[in-house]
Amino acid sequence: MILFCRHDLSSVASDHKLEIAQWRTEYETGYILIDNQHQSLFHAINALNSAMLIGRGEELLERTLESLKIYTTIHFETEEEFMFKNNYPGYLEHKAKHKLLRQQVEEFSKQIKIQNTSQITINVSHFLTDWLIHHIKDEDKKMIAFLRQKREQKQK
Ligand SMILES: [Fe+2]
Repeated sequence: MILFCRHDLSSVASDHKLEIAQWRTEYETGYILIDNQHQSLFHAINALNSAMLIGRGEELLERTLESLKIYTTIHFETEEEFMFKNNYPGYLEHKAKHKLLRQQVEEFSKQIKIQNTSQITINVSHFLTDWLIHHIKDEDKKMIAFLRQKREQKQK
């Protein structure tokens, strides 16, 4: 999971890093699988942003969006399975937010096939950074808190 982004994007991004999406300990959910997947997305966004800075944003945008499609399939399925199995009360709402992101990524993909401009790259980068940080901080944190509580209750 971590590899798909790093492999695709690191060659462009490594020397020109601007960490637009900075990973912080407050984003850690305590579930290694989920945390690793989230960090992969941070990496993809940072790589895209770095590529923009060296004038290669448009070139990388298509690959980033393709990676995101894989990411959303794998990662969202992981989260959704966790929620479903544990009867998480916010399951449907959370799942709907995942669906919205998938649709937005599809929409960006269609847009860049018609016209791939630096403005679209900037829009995508900002949108994803904002989505990622808010989704992890708000939705995923709530989900993880619930799952932890449930696990602790089972252990008692
Ligand atoms: Fe989520």
